[in-house]
Amino acid sequence: MSEESNLLLPVPTGQLQVSEYHPRSVNTGDKVIRLSLVIPTYKERNNIQNVIRILSLLLDESIPGDYELIVVDDDSPDCTWEVARSLVTEYPQLRVMRRQQERGLSSAVIRGWQVARGEILAVIDGDLQHPPEVLTQLLRAMEQGADLAVASRHIEGGGVSSWSVVRRFLSRGAQVLGLIILPGVLGRVSDPMSGYFMVRRTCIAGAALHPVGYKILLEVIGRGKVRDIAEVGYVFCERTAGESKVTWKQYVDYLRHLLRLRLSTSPLRGFPFVRFFRFGLVGLSGVFVDMTVLYLLSDPTTLALPLTRSKIIAGEIAIFNNFLWNDAWTFADVSMQQQEWRQRLKRFLKFNIICLAGLVLNVLVLNLVYNFLIPNRYVANLIAIAIATVWNFWVNLKLSWRVTQVK
Ligand code: GDD
Ligand code: MN
Repeated sequence: MSEESNLLLPVPTGQLQVSEYHPRSVNTGDKVIRLSLVIPTYKERNNIQNVIRILSLLLDESIPGDYELIVVDDDSPDCTWEVARSLVTEYPQLRVMRRQQERGLSSAVIRGWQVARGEILAVIDGDLQHPPEVLTQLLRAMEQGADLAVASRHIEGGGVSSWSVVRRFLSRGAQVLGLIILPGVLGRVSDPMSGYFMVRRTCIAGAALHPVGYKILLEVIGRGKVRDIAEVGYVFCERTAGESKVTWKQYVDYLRHLLRLRLSTSPLRGFPFVRFFRFGLVGLSGVFVDMTVLYLLSDPTTLALPLTRSKIIAGEIAIFNNFLWNDAWTFADVSMQQQEWRQRLKRFLKFNIICLAGLVLNVLVLNLVYNFLIPNRYVANLIAIAIATVWNFWVNLKLSWRVTQVK
């Protein structure tokens, strides 16, 4: 094997699974190191030297000799892997992998973790959009016992510098969609799309990972045994060279990834039965309010107002009734943490919008059932309310009364 090619790491094949044991390496014998930082690259030729220099300076200062950098390049057409390999002699803690059979950001990170020797596995982008100085805060959080430390754009000190309104909208939209489809995963952190984090090896060792696309963090939270999560705010910087590889394909991959995780994680794992029961009881009180007002407004023996107009008024009054009971009882443990009137108002508005969508669904189903299936307005109304209740519970649970489980 030529001198140059042995400066490249062997590329693991088969299952994407991190082992419990730290693979031994020739030049460190049995010494386990603290941090293995994987840098996935694709066409980063003009960034990679700077990235390695800055990361090495920073980590030589904080954990000298106790870390390694692993560049995993997917055979970039600009030969990023070649530039990285040329740096190995200058930076002994740098290791380089050139993948030619596989492609993809998430699988690149895991292949890097498979050859990693650290007890903490981490990932950072190779384009300096993730500020390296945040590493020390993430490391500190891990030393304080976190299983997972995530650099988040959506908490105090976080943000994105130069994203277009479209990208911001798409990123947030993707997050809301994920909260509805996979709340047990995306609801645990404020920035589930982050590609900048550290995880304890033991939390993901042995788990068969099946990532799709860019969102490696979803896979770690969805399939790992992660208990304590810490977050550090950071501002996503502008690129100085090269361009983002995110296209519409990453959004399709993201959706596929969500559905795959949803199907593979038990739908009832952690299902909030007690909350659902209370929400149902509150909903029943709302049915009573809804029916009473519907009777008072639309029955031929009372005001005899048109059915739809009466239904909308009855529905809105029932929504207000339900919000008060849910905020004070069903979700009391959550609303207790967010007592400010602005937070309460925000919750009421979210609840109202979601329930109004539920009311539209309710009116549609009422008219559908009343005009085409069962010509009894009260039976049709009950069926409509039942369907709208399931919608209201699920979406409110994920969006209105959501608290990320972060220290
Ligand atoms: N090996 C490999 N294979 N690396 C890749 C691939 C790939 O197929 N695609 C992208 N990369 C590398 C890029 O070279 C870069 O270092 C990093 O992954 C991020 O890719 P970008 O194309 O720059 O993504 P972005 O900046 O738009 O979004 C990044 O930041 C977001 C916020 O943290 C990504 O990390 C997103 O996943 C993340 O949500
Ligand atoms: Mn980038």
